[in-house]
Amino acid sequence: MQNFNFYNPTHIVFGKDRLGELDNLVPKNAKVLILFGGGSIKKFGTLDKVTKALKDRIIIEFGGIEPNPRFETLMKAVDIVKEKNIDFLLAVGGGSVIDGTKFINLAANYEGNDTADLLLNYSASKTVVKSIPIGTVLTLPATGSEMNSGAVISYNHGKFVVGSPLSFPTFSILDPTLTFTLPPSQVANGIVDTFIHVTEQYVTYPADGRFQDRTAEGILKTLIEISEQTINNPEDYDARANLVWSATMGLNGLIGSGVPQDWSTHMIGHELTAMFGIDHGKTLAILQPAIWKIRKEQKREKLLQYANRVWNITEGDDDYIIDSAINKTREFFEGLGIKTYLSDYGITADKIENVITALKKHGMTALSETRNLTPDICREILEIAL
Ligand code: NZQ
Ligand code: ZN
Repeated sequence: MQNFNFYNPTHIVFGKDRLGELDNLVPKNAKVLILFGGGSIKKFGTLDKVTKALKDRIIIEFGGIEPNPRFETLMKAVDIVKEKNIDFLLAVGGGSVIDGTKFINLAANYEGNDTADLLLNYSASKTVVKSIPIGTVLTLPATGSEMNSGAVISYNHGKFVVGSPLSFPTFSILDPTLTFTLPPSQVANGIVDTFIHVTEQYVTYPADGRFQDRTAEGILKTLIEISEQTINNPEDYDARANLVWSATMGLNGLIGSGVPQDWSTHMIGHELTAMFGIDHGKTLAILQPAIWKIRKEQKREKLLQYANRVWNITEGDDDYIIDSAINKTREFFEGLGIKTYLSDYGITADKIENVITALKKHGMTALSETRNLTPDICREILEIAL
């Protein structure tokens, strides 16, 4: 096992009807900025419940954070934070709202000349030393952003990862009933996103991280077990609760500690979202099977372990076992209603070179757990994903 630090200060408040506890979680004298997306929390009554729970605290609202949150939108909230001396940020929404809020906090406390440097230069966030506490109320299980320190922000035709220990939420309320209103396609996106957060940290090369591997396998098997149930019966509390907790645990640092991590599916996927507007989870479902086919040799041992332990495939030679596991994975995504080829989204071969150019522009030239996945290999991956 590799050396590691594991640090995660987020207080999780999990379960039904716990929004009232905001009164204990948010300081009594706080001036709170509530951040949200395009309006689902208004439509389904969550915003009313949140403001009621905050009682007589000073509250300002900032809505309109779009999926794949944009730098320009978030900078409007930064102005409000500064003008109104906000001292508590409460994100109510999915990954985009939570990521946006993390960025707003860093941007409001950044002392450099150009705030976009926080996105363009990964070390810029390390210069931020002050922070406004962030709380979250999660409405979409997928990203794990509610219990990690990362954020993904759209800027100038790209998606950029930013992170700092100051970005961990101080608390996150995970009430599975708040996710019952999600359309099936967003639930499916969340299942795939969680699945691939786990495989990015698990289908690499062996490092004898037995706890990490078995926990990863446990999350994957849970997702396979509950996916149909939670899509077809959105109000089945226990199925949804298992999805919510799996999503949080899939990307909170636990299973990735002490083991190699890949993240090439995500980095190539970010370009597909930025260029073609495909939802984050769907880009991953397109890329994962193609990456595994092309990287079969580098990932051979872990792909075999994945086939055996997650899909119980044990008969046949090694190549057959691995191919069957890749097919099972694709069938799993397709069974959730998620298409797994670029052509399903109207993307044709002539667009591939644009993706390669964008990857190079964004410095994504040495991807994967072995840092040898080059743009030329990305091109092969995209060609077989057509
Ligand atoms: O904007 P509203 O009106 O709220 O609607 C949202 C949005 O349209 C809707 N929604 C959310 N909760 C709902 C609901 N609709 C009905 N009922 C509810 N309870 O769902 C739509 C999508 O929301 P979004 O937040 O964009 O989805 P998700 O949680 O999948 O987040 C995706 C973003 O997270 C980033 C992605 O790149 C993408 O920008 N990621 C962040 C990560 C992190 N911070 O660690 C890791 C991930 O890999 C990912 O990259
Ligand atoms: Zn993801």
